Amino acid sequence: MRLFLVSPFLYKKKLDMENDLLLSLVDKYDSPLYVYDADKIEEKYNILIDGFSNVEKLKLNYAMKALSNISILKIFKKLGAGLDTVSIQEVKLGMKAGFAPEEIIFTPNGVGFEELEQAVELGVQINIDNISILELFGQKYPEVPVCIRINPHVMGGGNRKISVGHIDSKFGISIHQLPLMLRVVENTKMRINGIHMHTGSDILDIDTFIIASNILFNAATSFKNLEFIDLGSGFKVAYKDGDIKTDIKQLGEQLSTRFNKFCEDYGRSLTLMFEPGKFLVSESGKFLAKVNVIKQTTSSVFAGVNTGFNHLIRPMFYDAYHHITNISHPNGRKRFYSVVGYICETDTFASNRQISEISEGDILCFHNAGAYCFSMSSNFNSRYKPAEVLLYKGKDYLIRERETFEDLLAKQIEIDLD
Ligand SMILES: Cc1ncc(COP(=O)(O)O)c(C=O)c1O
Repeated sequence: MRLFLVSPFLYKKKLDMENDLLLSLVDKYDSPLYVYDADKIEEKYNILIDGFSNVEKLKLNYAMKALSNISILKIFKKLGAGLDTVSIQEVKLGMKAGFAPEEIIFTPNGVGFEELEQAVELGVQINIDNISILELFGQKYPEVPVCIRINPHVMGGGNRKISVGHIDSKFGISIHQLPLMLRVVENTKMRINGIHMHTGSDILDIDTFIIASNILFNAATSFKNLEFIDLGSGFKVAYKDGDIKTDIKQLGEQLSTRFNKFCEDYGRSLTLMFEPGKFLVSESGKFLAKVNVIKQTTSSVFAGVNTGFNHLIRPMFYDAYHHITNISHPNGRKRFYSVVGYICETDTFASNRQISEISEGDILCFHNAGAYCFSMSSNFNSRYKPAEVLLYKGKDYLIRERETFEDLLAKQIEIDLD
């Protein structure tokens, strides 16, 4: 027997209400449109906080690369999060949203030294992931405490492009270079106040976190002035029914116990940090697009929408799955479609996907569209970037206007060729 937490009737009613709301937003703001639900963000934030409630000092730094609209950042500020940033522009956006420099960790990869100098000026926590930069930094700023990003050489992550802790990865300083790290620290008299790792996104297996964390805890004992340990992120969310997702309760219990034991051995209570992006915002986002054309060929029925990989690149880039529903006619007969974009290259959101029968003009909803969707969008094909709307305390707020023709030209300089 199938058990429903709410009755099927109430569940359907809730879905209908949600669809009606989304359709009304398309009426109001047009499509394509990103819509984010602040309640969902808060719910996910609290799941992580509760999962690690046995840790005395816990800090969640939201990885703003996932979704960086300033109004979204303000939600995280209100919730009490810090920020994980990877560029000086992200740092500045975070500060503009109200984060104090000490609430921001800056973890760049492959940037010029002048970007680190700017970060020093701004006063944020710097995280270094290259031994030669560590040496240079220690010589120039021995008084500025820094964190070291260690690569534990653990293969984790849902896809090679988002696995970053393995031996061939460009990220972090190899754990095998620990003696060299210590020599640099000793010679420059720099102060290491944190150590960090991030092994990838969409990590399937709790053991991967535990194995990598143990490597980090062992390395941490070599640094005497630590204030925090940052275990990065990689919490997996479900993109479709039956998908494995990280069991935060189980992970929280196991990791907290291990971390508390580490602190006991270390002799001090440190702060445990994480920097989740996807886990916090993925499910809050819906992307709404209108069906421009239905095109039947000898082999497929295409539903062509008024967007493309310029607005949502994850399916083309990572073969990512986004659940798609027809919110204009959610109860129609299920048929098989390839949902494709309007870009002048192969631009497939979904192949052979069962969706309620689609007519031209229907609105399709792409689910789990909060993380790495708008933030990876572009103007390819000289298309405008879509608008973004935030649902907050029962009201809808436009948090980014749809671009216009003037925006496309804003930074272009037209020269006279005569
Ligand atoms: C250093 C670092 N931290 C955190 C994250 C966020 O990962 P996720 O979105 O899987 O939570 C990333 C993602 O690329 C990252 O590179």
